[in-house]
Amino acid sequence: MAEELQNYRDTRQEFFANISHELRTPITYLEGYSKVIKDRLYSTEEERDQYLDVLHQEAKRLQHLVDDLFELSKMEEGKVSLSLEWIDLAEVIDNAVQKVQLKASDKGLILRASLNRSTAWVHGDGLRMEQVILNLLENSVRYTEQGEISITLGQTESYVFVAVKDTGIGISEDELPYVFERFYRVEKSRSRQHGGTGLGLSIAKKLIELQGGEIFVSSKLGEGTTFEIRFKLEEQGGSI
Ligand SMILES: Nc1ncnc2c1ncn2[C@@H]1O[C@H](COP(=O)(O)OP(=O)(O)OP(=O)(O)O)[C@@H](O)[C@H]1O
Ligand SMILES: [Mg+2]
Repeated sequence: MAEELQNYRDTRQEFFANISHELRTPITYLEGYSKVIKDRLYSTEEERDQYLDVLHQEAKRLQHLVDDLFELSKMEEGKVSLSLEWIDLAEVIDNAVQKVQLKASDKGLILRASLNRSTAWVHGDGLRMEQVILNLLENSVRYTEQGEISITLGQTESYVFVAVKDTGIGISEDELPYVFERFYRVEKSRSRQHGGTGLGLSIAKKLIELQGGEIFVSSKLGEGTTFEIRFKLEEQGGSI
């Protein structure tokens, strides 16, 4: 019991240490760069625009972080309310793909969708499902420099699956077990440069589990990564 309590305190402490760190970093940038601009410590307009760009990016990062933290705390308290209905995953994927298409082509990446449109419908929350799929696709775009990202919708005898596969930097075997932990980033500094805070996958996993599904990852460093979401058919069938 005492040990459990200590563990709980440690995790809590770590959680708040992480939050403070994640908040402090963009705030430092905002402080520093706005001062540079205020004191006109730049020599060209381009240079100034670059600093403004950093300000904008960091403000966006803060916004994203606050949104994610809010979402996470609601989920931890069991306060997230899903509106469950029978949803067609093909339609959900179409929407997500459409949203991420521009980001992918901006980076010169091919985005391919291969959807079996006659898979069973899934009992879930359409918007949350889209949020999760978008998250996986955005990760793939973020962590892939060249090649392609593919999303597949299919069905086996026992489950419906969505797989997001990329030809990106990959994740090493020893880091793989931790990617769903909140604030976990592979090679922290490099990921930060990519703009992440390490919350996306922990939220995605929780949302999928709340909808009765499971999420898996497999990856090979330097070759690419695949995330797969599965919904068992027997657990889905009939229970509206
Ligand atoms: N497709 C991928 N390829 C390689 N690494 C990945 C991939 N998806 C996730 N990762 C690694 O797992 C870490 C955790 O991912 P997660 O989505 O939780 O956080 P993030 O992308 O860093 O930030 P955000 O909270 O904005 O999503 C990432 O920082 C990255 O290092
Ligand atoms: Mg992410």
